[in-house]
Amino acid sequence: MPKLLEIAELGNPILRKKAHRIESIDDYLRDLSANLIYTVKQVSGVGLAAPQVGKSLRLFIMHSRPNARYPNATTTKPIIVINPEIIEVSSEKSLDWEGCLSIPGIRGLVPRHKTIKARFIDISGTLIQRTFHGFLARIFQHEYDHLNGIVFLDRLESTKDIVTEKEYKKLLKKSILTHN
Ligand code: NI
Repeated sequence: MPKLLEIAELGNPILRKKAHRIESIDDYLRDLSANLIYTVKQVSGVGLAAPQVGKSLRLFIMHSRPNARYPNATTTKPIIVINPEIIEVSSEKSLDWEGCLSIPGIRGLVPRHKTIKARFIDISGTLIQRTFHGFLARIFQHEYDHLNGIVFLDRLESTKDIVTEKEYKKLLKKSILTHN
């Protein structure tokens, strides 16, 4: 049975550390990945990185589908990403709202590359090269940052681009939010 993992919040030093490269894929990693996928679903996230659950490892999961926190999310199967590299980015960026399970209660308007090409190992040990666009590219860049001790607040153009979750919900209702 997968387990609900405790999520480290801003101020916990693990969120500011560069995570360690993974040398081999074993049952421990398979369990950790299953627990991350289970946990992100329980807390209405779309991605979760190992450092956010106290493990300093270069692994994250992405699982985009509409939920309470991201009603406009696209639907994908869960993706397990190990030792990722971003090998190409579009020069074009887009601005959109992000939240983070490690930074509860706030959202920020974050610029991200619209398209990225990434290389990573999947949980079966296969080397994958894949291009991500739009919201998925955004999630990938957000989770990738967690492996390098970076949070979305570090990417804001201005602290004026921070809103509380309560005000964000009001903005969402007025539908003045963009979504790529
Ligand atoms: Ni996050």
